[in-house]
Amino acid sequence: MRKIYVFDTTLRDGEQSPGVNLNTREKLEIAYQLEKLGIDRMEAGFPAASPGDLAAVNAVARAVKNATVIGLSRSRENDIDAVREALIGAQDPCIHIFLATSPIHRKHKLRMEKEQVLETAKSALQYAKKYFSKIEFSLEDAGRTEYDFIAQMVSMAIGEGVNVVNIPDTVGYLNPAEYGAIFKYVKENVPDVEKVQLSAHCHNDLGMATANTLAAIQNGADQIEGTINGIGERAGNTAIEEIAMALETRQEFFGAKTSLNLSEISRTSRLVSKLTGMVVPGNKAIVGANAFAHESGIHQDGMLKEKTTYEIMTPETIGLKESKLVLGKHSGRHAFRERLIDLGYELEDELLNQAFARFKDLADKKKEVSDDDILALIEEKLVST
Ligand code: KIV
Ligand code: ZN
Repeated sequence: MRKIYVFDTTLRDGEQSPGVNLNTREKLEIAYQLEKLGIDRMEAGFPAASPGDLAAVNAVARAVKNATVIGLSRSRENDIDAVREALIGAQDPCIHIFLATSPIHRKHKLRMEKEQVLETAKSALQYAKKYFSKIEFSLEDAGRTEYDFIAQMVSMAIGEGVNVVNIPDTVGYLNPAEYGAIFKYVKENVPDVEKVQLSAHCHNDLGMATANTLAAIQNGADQIEGTINGIGERAGNTAIEEIAMALETRQEFFGAKTSLNLSEISRTSRLVSKLTGMVVPGNKAIVGANAFAHESGIHQDGMLKEKTTYEIMTPETIGLKESKLVLGKHSGRHAFRERLIDLGYELEDELLNQAFARFKDLADKKKEVSDDDILALIEEKLVST
């Protein structure tokens, strides 16, 4: 089974979510949990952004023992120096240097011709090489860059000896067929491409970050970049838990796996949500409160007979105790009876039917009927008989 390396950027791209600001203590708490989750690489921040971020990256660099710690840098010597300072004390340091490559960014942001972009990145990599033995290079907005220029930039980065080349869909513009095709093109057209790992980094502007990342894996990406709960700039980044569980659940299809400790997913998600203040929507894949909850009678009946009827993965895999059968107006007699048994009541048919009728009346008035509601309803019924 092919191993897919996981590069977590919750502490950098994730922190770029509007309204999120993690202090050193919070970054450390998340970093320790990411280590437990078993991520391979951790981007701890952007040291040139502020003295506070530099200090936070340094605290993470000194603390983390079981993952590569990475600092982000523009293609500038000052930024590279900030990463050098921030990664002092790291067991396995790596610098992540980026430069935009698309025509839109070249024209409006960088005001550079292709040749200048190539030279600027090259001299940044040459400077970084003096201080770092591990380097990742990213072609920002590669998703909207000409294929031949992507190939030229990747080739230049390979020539400079980088370890990982990242090909991001920075603005979440592509669809899976298009994103996958870039990886295929690079694999087939860049000489010596086997000397580097190729990385996928997607944003979710059109809701395609997970699908695009999976397409990159199918077309040869060795590493995926993402965040816990998919937090990040605008609509966010690829959600790491979605990729890990997609690969796990459909192993026969992808033939690739991460080495994450999947049972830490739920705990990591809750911690990131708590410390960033970014609430996880109930219907969020894998980690949403409803991801393992069933409300309709037909589904609950199926679940009670055999869980695989309506669950493609088990809640235990991600560290949850069990699935939830939520009682509401769509629920059936079977689930109602099972809940009563859990609550300590085994009613004979006649009483059960009466209680079920009262439950349905109540369920018409409430979105969810709680255990307390059921207990009240049963005790009332038993007292009056
Ligand atoms: O989305 C992006 O292009 C980035 C780069 C810095 C890799 O986050
Ligand atoms: Zn990004």
